[in-house]
Amino acid sequence: MTRISVHVDGVEYTDDVEPRTLLVHYLRERLGKTGTVVGCDTSSCGACTVHLDGSSVKSCTVLAVQADGTSVDTVEGLAKDGELHPMQQAFTDCHSLQCGYCTPGMIMASLDLLKDNPDPTEEEIRTGLEGNLCRCTGYQNIVRAVQQVAGGDRS
Ligand code: FES
Ligand code: FES
Repeated sequence: MTRISVHVDGVEYTDDVEPRTLLVHYLRERLGKTGTVVGCDTSSCGACTVHLDGSSVKSCTVLAVQADGTSVDTVEGLAKDGELHPMQQAFTDCHSLQCGYCTPGMIMASLDLLKDNPDPTEEEIRTGLEGNLCRCTGYQNIVRAVQQVAGGDRS
């Protein structure tokens, strides 16, 4: 076992973990952060995307011990005082989900995209989210949600 300390959604946690434990499993099974989901476990789908020190990572590709001393933000930390985060609201407004399985990862990846490029073109949004798969929506309404938050609905 290895002791780690991680700041998750604004709360500091110290836990003993096995060196092989994946960050996504630590978040879900130890901390109960089941809003972050596992779609493939092989770094393909992006459903498990969280922010590690402000940048999006697929948490099934990160060991929990690698998160020691870092700050992790999950989709569960976005809403404040009962109010959805603007990106969550945009996904709702634009009907950007059907089954919703990809949504936590899509939202976290979209926020990282806008952090790096606050005014992306549609093409840049599609390219920026290509690591996140959606099997339901056809992506169009996901792109619209990101455009809504970016402030420029160019559709
Ligand atoms: S569960 Fe991590 S990329 Fe699919
Ligand atoms: S809404 Fe079902 S996978 Fe995206």
